[in-house]
Amino acid sequence: MIKRLWANRSKAKTSLPQSEGIPPENVPQHVAIIMDGNGRWAKRRGLPRMAGHHSGMKTVKRITIEANRLGVKYLTLYAFSTENWKRPKAEVDFLMKLPQQFLEIELDDLIANNVQVKMMGHREDLPSHTLSAVEEAITKTAGNTGLVLNFALNYGSRKEMLEAVQGIAADIKDGRLDPEDIDDQEMARRLLSKDLPDPDLLIRTSGELRLSNFMLWQLAYSELWFTDVYWPEFTEKHFNEAIQEYGRRARRYGGV
Ligand code: FPP
Repeated sequence: MIKRLWANRSKAKTSLPQSEGIPPENVPQHVAIIMDGNGRWAKRRGLPRMAGHHSGMKTVKRITIEANRLGVKYLTLYAFSTENWKRPKAEVDFLMKLPQQFLEIELDDLIANNVQVKMMGHREDLPSHTLSAVEEAITKTAGNTGLVLNFALNYGSRKEMLEAVQGIAADIKDGRLDPEDIDDQEMARRLLSKDLPDPDLLIRTSGELRLSNFMLWQLAYSELWFTDVYWPEFTEKHFNEAIQEYGRRARRYGGV
């Protein structure tokens, strides 16, 4: 059932079927999503919060398929922030099992559909079962050339930037770097997102209008799109709406 949801696309095929009405040039290269509202979705149904996260995992699958179909090249999903450790232990434990659970079911199809799995986050604090599941997926999909599915896991933008600045300071102290050579590129190559372009479009679900320590450097010129819909209810239709709206925006990057 799950497998049939994937449109099988061999590695040899490079052109993707585009959604009707969205010209390829209007499809953002990199979409980042703050997947919010799992808890409230569950509460509204009288369910435990974990049910919301479990349902959110199914949305991850659907939106990955749709992004792949539309020809999005990078999809970054905020799955766990450096601040999420403050949640009750049972919820943290549950969230830490989700990548493993997701990949157990989906990895074969991700491989078959040429998806490349990546992870952006502070690896050192992750439980070994979480990290090894993700690392296995990264290794097994490393040769794929389709959609890059990038999980932001134990990710915090301030920590990421502080570590970059510490690296810069150490290199200056040891004479490896001249302060005059610090520019956007130097900073960007020290961030956890160094292998990815900046997001073109940020989506946040659940009606909250904030960035929550997510990709603060990288989102400098991204288009922002918010919806009241909770993540478990976020559908392909909503995703297409966001992309269509993106196509109508004029990106000026501070110019005229
Ligand atoms: C925020 O909603 C959501 C999270 C902190 C977790 C997001 C995780 C998933 C959607 C599943 C991830 C799946 C994989 C495969 C890694 P919230 O719980 O804060 O919602 P609330 O604000 O309504 O309480």
